[in-house]
Amino acid sequence: MFKKIPYASGDPILGLIETYNKDCNTQKVDLGVGVYRDHNGHTPILESVKKAEANILKNEKSKAYVGSHGDPVFAESILGLVLGNHSKVLLANRSSVSQTPGGSGALKLAADFIRAHLPEASIWLPTPTWSNHFSIFAGAGLTLHEYPYVSDENSLDFDSMLLSLKNIPHGDIVLLHACCHNPTGFDLSIEQWGLVRDVILEKGLLPLIDFAYQGFGEGLEPDAYGVRLLADALDELLITSSYSKNFGLYRERTGALIAIASSHNKMQNIRTQLAITARHNYSSPPNHGSAIVAEVLGSQELSALWRHELDGMRARIVQMRHDFVEAMKPYKLNDRFSCVNEQQGMFSYTGLSAEQVLRLREEFSIYMVGSGRANMSGLTKENLSYVAKSVASVI
Ligand code: LMR
Repeated sequence: MFKKIPYASGDPILGLIETYNKDCNTQKVDLGVGVYRDHNGHTPILESVKKAEANILKNEKSKAYVGSHGDPVFAESILGLVLGNHSKVLLANRSSVSQTPGGSGALKLAADFIRAHLPEASIWLPTPTWSNHFSIFAGAGLTLHEYPYVSDENSLDFDSMLLSLKNIPHGDIVLLHACCHNPTGFDLSIEQWGLVRDVILEKGLLPLIDFAYQGFGEGLEPDAYGVRLLADALDELLITSSYSKNFGLYRERTGALIAIASSHNKMQNIRTQLAITARHNYSSPPNHGSAIVAEVLGSQELSALWRHELDGMRARIVQMRHDFVEAMKPYKLNDRFSCVNEQQGMFSYTGLSAEQVLRLREEFSIYMVGSGRANMSGLTKENLSYVAKSVASVI
């Protein structure tokens, strides 16, 4: 029965991990998958996380299921982080949190929910977007459309984006990246978020906001600007949040789907449906990562330590962006990399072609995603000049 099953080429992002690991070149550089790396190229476990884990190990009393929506203490703590403690959504009790297996699990839960309960709605994704968005939404059976996001000159093409949003049919869903746009790093300004909100209201669209990198752009609060603006303005909203990056909990699969409805009662209806959708998917979510998040956010001391560590990760990436732009200057490429300093978060859209990316991989053992996306935290003081020289040589 298995005879006809064809070979699948690897995932464009996760597949790189394996290829990189097999590469014996001692100068190899990993700018691929979106995990934070420190100045030694390691992905550390945060001290705040280690401390929280020690507390959990000492105090946890059971490993019984947490239920389809997960732990209410986790839910409570992330609502404040995402929406802000004074959100009017929270005052009106209009939001439901479902703890999920990572941000991808939250997207899948949202996708299956949309397919089941909003079958007429198509979803609109920015071009480009995270490659797994396509797989998750198409896999759930949704109809996908794209709206433009980046110009041929490798900058945010906001005019085209807005024009396209204005033409989306009433009742469709629009996927927005809250901050640190993956893969480009180009984010909306405060003014642009306001214009997007106006179109969404005018056209009666349902936004699904992917919030995977809170704290990696400008900080925990500023990165939530767009999410909070829309939560304040709209009756209905879906938010997927991830704690893989900002807590460094990648393999613990820690995320959430936040569903906001126009009233407490309507939210309860949605919540009951989401429980069923989760049950049909993974039954109930993993809890270790979520317990860590709840433990950290529930302690003033651990929270302060975590914020400090998160600030450190962000500052290192900003520094590496700056150093990369400087390192490219001697190659006189007409400032084509100055946009790296304007981009936010872990990734830069370098503007390198698929062919140039392949040459970097094959000739120099420098790994980035085929779209030209580079994880800036993979740069270190040691590999910077090698990367700059190699990049210049493939252009
Ligand atoms: C990425 O974009 O590299 C990360 O979000 C990891 C992943 O699952 O693709």
